[in-house]
Parts: sequence; C-alpha cells; structure tokens
Amino acid sequence: MEDIFENKDIRQIEKFARDNHYPVLLRPSAIELYNVIKQENPSKILEIGTAIGYSGSIILLSCKGDLVTLEKDNNSIKIAQTNFEKLNLLNRVKIINCDAYDFLINCNEKFDFIFLDGPKGQYIKYYPYIKKILNKNGILFADNVLFRGLVKQDNCPRKYRSLVNHLKEFNKTLQCDKDFETELKEIGDGLLIARKIL
Ligand SMILES: C[S@@+](CC[C@H](N)C(=O)[O-])C[C@H]1O[C@@H](n2cnc3c(N)ncnc32)[C@H](O)[C@@H]1O
Repeated sequence: MEDIFENKDIRQIEKFARDNHYPVLLRPSAIELYNVIKQENPSKILEIGTAIGYSGSIILLSCKGDLVTLEKDNNSIKIAQTNFEKLNLLNRVKIINCDAYDFLINCNEKFDFIFLDGPKGQYIKYYPYIKKILNKNGILFADNVLFRGLVKQDNCPRKYRSLVNHLKEFNKTLQCDKDFETELKEIGDGLLIARKIL
C-alpha cells in the first residue's frame, strides 16, 4: 500500500478531527475503505456524510473517479472544501449541502460505489433509494453498523435503543437481500460491505 496515511495533509485532517471532535472514520476503517476502493476502481462515487472531507480525501486518493458528497452542516462543508483544496482534489469533488434523504429520493444519477456514513438511524430509510441508484456490480460500504458493539448485544442503553434497532434492521435487510453479496467486518465501529449482483 502506498502510504497515503503518511501524507502530511491527511495526518493534519486526522489531528484536526480529533482535536475538534469531528467523528471521522477510524483509521482501520479508513484503511479498509482505501483497499476496497483501490481494488474496485469506481468511476462515480457517492458519499453520505462529508464531515470535514477526511474519508472523501481517502476515497479520491485511492482512485481516479469523481465524488459526489452530501453534508447538511455548513461549517463542516467549509472545512471540507479547504481540505480538498489543500490536497488538490477540488476538481474531482462536488459537495452538496442538503439533507441526504432529500437528495436520495430525487436522485436520477447512478453510482459505482456508495459510502454510507451519515445519520446511523436513517440507514434503513435510505436503503431502497441507495439500492436503486447503485449500478450492477457496484459496492455499498456502510460504516458504524455495529455501533460501539451495541448491535451485537441484547441489552442496550435506552438512549441508543431506537438507533440500534434501526441498525439491526438495516444489517438484516441487506444480509437477506438476494440482490447483494454482503460481508460484515468487525473493523472499527463495524463495516458492512455489499456488492449488488443483480
Ligand atoms: C460520521 S460523520 C461523517 C464522517 C466522514 N465520512 C469521514 O469519515 O470523514 C457524519 C456526517 O453526516 C452529517 N449528517 C448527519 N445527518 C445528515 C443528513 N440528514 N444529511 C446530510 N448529512 C448529514 C453530519 O453533519 C456529519 O458531518
């Protein structure tokens, strides 16, 4: 692996995220994302949840494709823009300031790779729309599907119960969908990587 994780701008983004409490991909999950993108070499990529552009930068540095990335928070978008610019990636990324659901229900484009890293409780609601806009042979890569290990436990603190139940439903739906080949990886906060085979 050529070491983009040693790149000084990438390291700076990681440090900024840590210092300012932006919830970006954990390093092991970022490495997995890098490896899968490198292997698949997608042309058109959609990301749900830009934050400050950390995972978006990893994606763009792993392939030659273009990225559409969705984010509802204005301040995060400003920081993401600066980060993409520093890494010379701005010409390959379109950042859309929106609610992801509004984008998904109206989207007519198709994508080869979708990185799902927005609001965890909404994954199940997004699922039919994501399926529709994912090309055959395309990959859905979802982060946080084990949510702090709570998805695999029977008891869950009340405040996370609804979110965890939604994630359980999402994982089960995807794993039972015959149109997908799905792998759940216990990396970082849990990754579900699914190829649309039909
Ligand atoms: C876990 S962070 C994304 C981290 C980023 N993918 C990374 O690893 O660098 C989730 C992001 O989704 C955004 N978000 C939450 N709900 C959203 C929604 N309904 N529509 C669009 N973005 C949303 C949050 O503002 C936050 O920046």
